[in-house]
Amino acid sequence: MTVSTWAAVVLLSSLTVALSHEEGGGPSFGYTPGTPDGPENWGKLSPAYKACNEGKAQSPIDIVTASAIPNPNLDTLSRVYVPCNATLHNNGKDIVMTFERDGEPVMPGSINITTADGTVKVFRFKMVHWHVPAEHSINGKRFPLELHLVHADDHGDKAVVGILYKIGKPDPFYDQLTEKLRELKETPTVAAGMVELKSLQKRTGSYFRYMGSLTTPPCTENVVWNILGKGREMSQEQFELITAPLPHQDNRPPQPLNGRIVAFYNPPNSTISHYTYM
Ligand SMILES: *[C@@H]1O[C@H](CO)[C@@H](O)[C@H](O)[C@H]1NC(C)=O
Ligand SMILES: *[C@@H]1O[C@H](CO)[C@@H](O)[C@H](O)[C@H]1NC(C)=O
Ligand SMILES: *[C@@H]1O[C@H](CO)[C@@H](O)[C@H](O)[C@H]1NC(C)=O
Repeated sequence: MTVSTWAAVVLLSSLTVALSHEEGGGPSFGYTPGTPDGPENWGKLSPAYKACNEGKAQSPIDIVTASAIPNPNLDTLSRVYVPCNATLHNNGKDIVMTFERDGEPVMPGSINITTADGTVKVFRFKMVHWHVPAEHSINGKRFPLELHLVHADDHGDKAVVGILYKIGKPDPFYDQLTEKLRELKETPTVAAGMVELKSLQKRTGSYFRYMGSLTTPPCTENVVWNILGKGREMSQEQFELITAPLPHQDNRPPQPLNGRIVAFYNPPNSTISHYTYM
Protein backbone atom coordinates (compact mmCIF):
# COMPACT_ATOMS: atom_id res chain seq x y z
CA MET A 1 0.00 0.00 0.00
CA THR A 2 1.39 3.43 -0.89
CA VAL A 3 1.65 6.12 1.74
CA SER A 4 -1.13 8.12 0.13
CA THR A 5 -3.58 5.17 -0.01
CA TRP A 6 -2.69 4.41 3.58
CA ALA A 7 -3.36 8.03 4.51
CA ALA A 8 -6.68 7.81 2.66
CA VAL A 9 -7.61 4.65 4.59
CA VAL A 10 -6.71 6.26 7.91
CA LEU A 11 -8.65 9.38 6.98
CA LEU A 12 -11.62 7.32 5.86
CA SER A 13 -11.73 5.23 9.02
CA SER A 14 -11.45 8.26 11.29
CA LEU A 15 -14.26 9.83 9.27
CA THR A 16 -16.38 6.74 9.85
CA VAL A 17 -15.76 7.08 13.59
CA ALA A 18 -16.71 10.74 13.50
CA LEU A 19 -19.82 10.01 11.48
CA SER A 20 -21.21 7.28 13.71
CA HIS A 21 -23.63 8.95 16.08
CA GLU A 22 -23.17 6.40 18.85
CA GLU A 23 -19.76 5.30 20.05
CA GLY A 24 -18.34 2.28 18.28
CA GLY A 25 -17.40 3.58 14.85
CA GLY A 26 -17.27 0.73 12.36
CA PRO A 27 -18.27 0.43 8.71
CA SER A 28 -20.95 2.52 7.06
CA PHE A 29 -24.50 1.21 6.87
CA GLY A 30 -27.62 2.10 4.94
CA TYR A 31 -31.38 2.17 5.36
CA THR A 32 -32.53 0.82 1.98
CA PRO A 33 -33.99 -2.68 2.43
CA GLY A 34 -32.64 -5.26 -0.01
CA THR A 35 -29.26 -3.55 -0.50
CA PRO A 36 -25.94 -5.04 0.72
CA ASP A 37 -25.71 -2.53 3.58
CA GLY A 38 -29.48 -2.39 4.23
CA PRO A 39 -31.00 -2.96 7.70
CA GLU A 40 -31.38 -6.75 7.30
CA ASN A 41 -27.63 -7.01 6.55
CA TRP A 42 -26.22 -4.71 9.25
CA GLY A 43 -25.13 -7.71 11.34
CA LYS A 44 -22.96 -8.98 8.45
CA LEU A 45 -21.09 -5.70 7.85
CA SER A 46 -18.77 -6.17 10.83
CA PRO A 47 -18.28 -8.62 13.72
CA ALA A 48 -18.92 -5.58 15.95
CA TYR A 49 -22.43 -5.32 14.45
CA LYS A 50 -23.37 -8.97 15.13
CA ALA A 51 -26.12 -8.03 17.58
CA CYS A 52 -28.04 -6.34 14.75
CA ASN A 53 -28.83 -9.76 13.25
CA GLU A 54 -28.33 -12.14 16.16
CA GLY A 55 -29.59 -10.10 19.12
CA LYS A 56 -32.82 -11.12 20.79
CA ALA A 57 -33.72 -7.74 22.33
CA GLN A 58 -33.53 -5.37 19.38
CA SER A 59 -35.19 -2.02 18.73
CA PRO A 60 -37.40 -0.50 17.47
CA ILE A 61 -40.59 -2.51 17.99
CA ASP A 62 -44.25 -2.19 17.21
CA ILE A 63 -46.01 -1.33 20.49
CA VAL A 64 -49.32 -3.14 20.82
CA THR A 65 -51.15 -1.00 23.36
CA ALA A 66 -53.60 -3.75 24.37
CA SER A 67 -50.63 -5.97 25.34
CA ALA A 68 -48.75 -3.31 27.33
CA ILE A 69 -48.83 -4.24 31.02
CA PRO A 70 -49.35 -1.49 33.62
CA ASN A 71 -46.52 -1.68 36.16
CA PRO A 72 -47.21 0.03 39.52
CA ASN A 73 -43.46 0.08 40.30
CA LEU A 74 -42.78 2.50 37.47
CA ASP A 75 -42.72 6.21 38.21
CA THR A 76 -42.81 9.49 36.36
CA LEU A 77 -39.82 10.17 34.06
CA SER A 78 -38.28 12.92 36.14
CA ARG A 79 -36.01 15.08 33.97
CA VAL A 80 -34.10 18.33 34.33
CA TYR A 81 -32.55 19.90 31.22
CA VAL A 82 -30.61 23.18 31.22
CA PRO A 83 -29.78 25.49 28.27
CA CYS A 84 -26.59 24.49 26.47
CA ASN A 85 -24.36 25.26 23.51
CA ALA A 86 -25.26 22.75 20.83
CA THR A 87 -24.04 21.57 17.45
CA LEU A 88 -26.22 20.09 14.71
CA HIS A 89 -24.72 17.33 12.57
CA ASN A 90 -25.88 15.77 9.35
CA ASN A 91 -23.81 12.57 9.36
CA GLY A 92 -25.37 11.38 6.11
CA LYS A 93 -27.53 8.90 8.03
CA ASP A 94 -29.32 10.88 10.71
CA ILE A 95 -29.67 14.44 12.00
CA VAL A 96 -27.99 14.66 15.41
CA MET A 97 -27.59 17.37 18.05
CA THR A 98 -24.67 17.23 20.51
CA PHE A 99 -23.81 19.51 23.42
CA GLU A 100 -20.53 21.17 24.35
CA ARG A 101 -19.00 23.88 26.50
CA ASP A 102 -15.67 25.46 25.54
CA GLY A 103 -15.27 22.77 22.91
CA GLU A 104 -15.72 19.87 25.35
CA PRO A 105 -18.76 17.56 25.30
CA VAL A 106 -21.15 18.19 28.20
CA MET A 107 -24.32 16.58 29.47
CA PRO A 108 -26.86 19.33 30.08
CA GLY A 109 -29.27 17.52 32.33
CA SER A 110 -30.35 14.18 33.72
CA ILE A 111 -33.22 11.77 34.03
CA ASN A 112 -34.21 9.51 36.92
CA ILE A 113 -35.37 6.15 35.62
CA THR A 114 -37.37 3.91 37.93
CA THR A 115 -36.81 0.32 36.79
CA ALA A 116 -39.46 -2.42 36.76
CA ASP A 117 -38.44 -3.54 40.27
CA GLY A 118 -38.73 -0.02 41.67
CA THR A 119 -35.03 0.97 41.93
CA VAL A 120 -34.01 4.41 40.62
CA LYS A 121 -31.09 4.91 38.23
CA VAL A 122 -29.66 8.23 37.07
CA PHE A 123 -28.71 8.81 33.44
CA ARG A 124 -27.27 12.04 32.02
CA PHE A 125 -28.56 13.83 28.92
CA LYS A 126 -26.14 13.19 26.08
CA MET A 127 -27.57 13.88 22.65
CA VAL A 128 -30.63 14.18 20.48
CA HIS A 129 -31.46 12.65 17.13
CA TRP A 130 -34.39 12.42 14.79
CA HIS A 131 -35.71 9.56 12.67
CA VAL A 132 -37.98 9.93 9.65
CA PRO A 133 -40.47 8.35 9.61
CA ALA A 134 -40.80 7.14 13.23
CA GLU A 135 -39.00 3.93 14.21
CA HIS A 136 -41.45 2.77 16.89
CA SER A 137 -44.97 2.19 15.65
CA ILE A 138 -48.11 2.04 17.76
CA ASN A 139 -50.57 -0.73 16.89
CA GLY A 140 -48.92 -0.82 13.46
CA LYS A 141 -49.39 2.91 12.91
CA ARG A 142 -46.24 4.83 11.99
CA PHE A 143 -45.94 8.54 12.79
CA PRO A 144 -44.02 10.93 10.48
CA LEU A 145 -41.12 11.59 12.88
CA GLU A 146 -39.52 10.29 16.07
CA LEU A 147 -37.27 12.28 18.39
CA HIS A 148 -34.76 10.39 20.55
CA LEU A 149 -33.46 12.03 23.73
CA VAL A 150 -30.44 9.89 24.59
CA HIS A 151 -29.19 9.62 28.18
CA ALA A 152 -26.21 7.57 29.38
CA ASP A 153 -24.88 6.37 32.73
CA ASP A 154 -21.23 5.95 33.75
CA HIS A 155 -21.11 2.43 32.25
CA GLY A 156 -22.40 3.62 28.86
CA ASP A 157 -25.83 2.08 29.35
CA LYS A 158 -28.56 4.22 27.81
CA ALA A 159 -32.00 5.49 28.65
CA VAL A 160 -33.78 6.91 25.62
CA VAL A 161 -36.99 8.91 25.66
CA GLY A 162 -38.76 8.56 22.32
CA ILE A 163 -41.32 11.14 21.25
CA LEU A 164 -43.55 10.54 18.23
CA TYR A 165 -44.66 13.54 16.21
CA LYS A 166 -47.64 14.17 14.03
CA ILE A 167 -48.11 17.18 11.78
CA GLY A 168 -50.18 19.92 13.39
CA LYS A 169 -49.43 22.99 15.48
CA PRO A 170 -45.84 24.33 15.47
CA ASP A 171 -43.58 23.14 18.31
CA PRO A 172 -41.84 26.22 19.80
CA PHE A 173 -38.69 24.17 20.49
CA TYR A 174 -37.86 24.20 16.78
CA ASP A 175 -38.25 27.98 16.37
CA GLN A 176 -34.75 28.50 17.81
CA LEU A 177 -33.31 26.06 15.23
CA THR A 178 -35.02 27.34 12.07
CA GLU A 179 -32.00 29.12 10.56
CA LYS A 180 -29.57 26.43 11.71
CA LEU A 181 -31.61 23.67 10.09
CA ARG A 182 -31.58 25.65 6.85
CA GLU A 183 -27.77 25.85 7.04
CA LEU A 184 -27.58 22.11 7.74
CA LYS A 185 -28.83 21.52 4.22
CA GLU A 186 -25.65 23.12 2.87
CA THR A 187 -23.03 22.01 5.39
CA PRO A 188 -22.77 18.87 7.59
CA THR A 189 -21.97 20.64 10.89
CA VAL A 190 -23.65 23.78 12.21
CA ALA A 191 -22.95 25.51 15.54
CA ALA A 192 -26.41 26.12 16.96
CA GLY A 193 -25.33 28.40 19.82
CA MET A 194 -27.24 28.34 23.10
CA VAL A 195 -30.23 26.02 22.80
CA GLU A 196 -33.09 26.02 25.28
CA LEU A 197 -33.88 22.39 26.15
CA LYS A 198 -36.47 22.76 28.89
CA SER A 199 -39.42 22.56 26.53
CA LEU A 200 -38.34 19.00 25.70
CA GLN A 201 -39.19 18.08 29.30
CA LYS A 202 -42.81 19.03 28.87
CA ARG A 203 -45.76 16.66 28.80
CA THR A 204 -44.00 13.66 30.27
CA GLY A 205 -47.04 11.76 31.44
CA SER A 206 -47.69 8.19 30.43
CA TYR A 207 -45.06 6.12 28.66
CA PHE A 208 -44.30 2.65 27.33
CA ARG A 209 -41.21 0.97 28.80
CA TYR A 210 -39.22 -1.94 27.43
CA MET A 211 -35.61 -3.15 27.29
CA GLY A 212 -34.00 -2.94 23.86
CA SER A 213 -31.08 -1.79 21.76
CA LEU A 214 -29.60 1.07 19.80
CA THR A 215 -31.53 1.35 16.52
CA THR A 216 -28.26 1.87 14.59
CA PRO A 217 -25.17 -0.38 14.44
CA PRO A 218 -23.67 -1.75 16.63
CA CYS A 219 -27.28 -2.33 17.90
CA THR A 220 -25.98 -2.78 21.47
CA GLU A 221 -28.65 -4.19 23.80
CA ASN A 222 -28.21 -1.76 26.68
CA VAL A 223 -31.10 0.65 26.27
CA VAL A 224 -34.02 1.34 28.60
CA TRP A 225 -36.66 2.57 26.15
CA ASN A 226 -39.36 5.03 27.19
CA ILE A 227 -41.81 5.91 24.43
CA LEU A 228 -44.06 8.75 25.56
CA GLY A 229 -47.73 7.85 25.55
CA LYS A 230 -48.65 11.26 24.27
CA GLY A 231 -47.01 12.60 21.15
CA ARG A 232 -46.12 16.11 20.15
CA GLU A 233 -47.06 18.11 17.11
CA MET A 234 -44.94 20.12 14.70
CA SER A 235 -45.96 22.20 11.73
CA GLN A 236 -45.53 21.02 8.15
CA GLU A 237 -42.86 23.74 7.70
CA GLN A 238 -40.91 22.49 10.73
CA PHE A 239 -41.19 18.92 9.48
CA GLU A 240 -39.82 19.97 6.09
CA LEU A 241 -36.90 21.82 7.71
CA ILE A 242 -35.82 18.85 9.81
CA THR A 243 -36.20 16.38 6.93
CA ALA A 244 -34.63 18.49 4.15
CA PRO A 245 -30.93 17.87 4.99
CA LEU A 246 -31.32 14.07 4.56
CA PRO A 247 -32.40 12.81 1.14
CA HIS A 248 -33.65 9.47 2.50
CA GLN A 249 -35.66 7.83 5.29
CA ASP A 250 -33.71 6.70 8.36
CA ASN A 251 -35.97 4.36 10.25
CA ARG A 252 -34.92 0.81 11.10
CA PRO A 253 -37.82 -1.63 10.53
CA PRO A 254 -39.57 -3.13 13.61
CA GLN A 255 -37.75 -5.99 15.35
CA PRO A 256 -39.28 -9.11 16.98
CA LEU A 257 -40.27 -8.81 20.65
CA ASN A 258 -38.98 -12.33 21.44
CA GLY A 259 -41.07 -12.53 24.60
CA ARG A 260 -40.11 -9.14 25.98
CA ILE A 261 -42.69 -7.31 28.06
CA VAL A 262 -43.78 -3.80 27.21
CA ALA A 263 -44.84 -2.05 30.41
CA PHE A 264 -47.11 0.98 30.64
CA TYR A 265 -46.95 3.81 33.14
CA ASN A 266 -49.85 6.15 33.65
CA PRO A 267 -49.66 9.00 36.21
CA PRO A 268 -51.93 8.59 39.26
CA ASN A 269 -55.50 9.74 38.69
CA SER A 270 -54.88 10.74 35.09
CA THR A 271 -57.21 9.51 32.43
CA ILE A 272 -55.41 6.97 30.30
CA SER A 273 -53.87 8.79 27.39
CA HIS A 274 -52.01 7.00 24.68
CA TYR A 275 -51.76 6.92 20.96
CA THR A 276 -54.99 5.08 20.29
CA TYR A 277 -56.65 8.38 21.26
CA MET A 278 -54.56 10.64 19.00
C1 LIG B 1 -33.09 12.15 40.92
O1 LIG B 1 -33.16 11.62 42.22
C2 LIG B 1 -32.28 12.23 43.15
C3 LIG B 1 -32.39 11.47 44.47
O2 LIG B 1 -33.73 11.36 44.88
C4 LIG B 1 -32.65 13.70 43.29
O3 LIG B 1 -31.75 14.35 44.18
C5 LIG B 1 -32.56 14.37 41.91
O4 LIG B 1 -32.99 15.71 42.00
C6 LIG B 1 -33.42 13.63 40.90
N1 LIG B 1 -33.18 14.16 39.58
C7 LIG B 1 -34.16 14.41 38.74
C8 LIG B 1 -33.76 14.87 37.38
O5 LIG B 1 -35.35 14.28 39.03
C1 LIG C 1 -20.94 28.62 22.43
O1 LIG C 1 -20.81 28.51 21.01
C2 LIG C 1 -20.35 29.66 20.40
C3 LIG C 1 -20.36 29.40 18.92
O2 LIG C 1 -21.65 29.01 18.52
C4 LIG C 1 -18.98 30.01 20.92
O3 LIG C 1 -18.54 31.23 20.34
C5 LIG C 1 -19.00 30.16 22.43
O4 LIG C 1 -17.72 30.34 22.94
C6 LIG C 1 -19.59 28.91 23.05
N1 LIG C 1 -19.72 29.09 24.49
C7 LIG C 1 -19.34 28.14 25.37
C8 LIG C 1 -19.56 28.46 26.81
O5 LIG C 1 -18.84 27.09 25.03
C1 LIG D 1 -56.09 10.20 43.45
O1 LIG D 1 -57.47 10.26 43.76
C2 LIG D 1 -57.79 9.76 45.07
C3 LIG D 1 -59.32 9.73 45.22
O2 LIG D 1 -59.89 10.90 44.69
C4 LIG D 1 -57.12 10.65 46.12
O3 LIG D 1 -57.40 10.16 47.41
C5 LIG D 1 -55.61 10.64 45.88
O4 LIG D 1 -54.97 11.53 46.77
C6 LIG D 1 -55.29 11.04 44.44
N1 LIG D 1 -53.86 10.87 44.19
C7 LIG D 1 -53.12 11.80 43.59
C8 LIG D 1 -51.67 11.46 43.41
O5 LIG D 1 -53.57 12.84 43.16
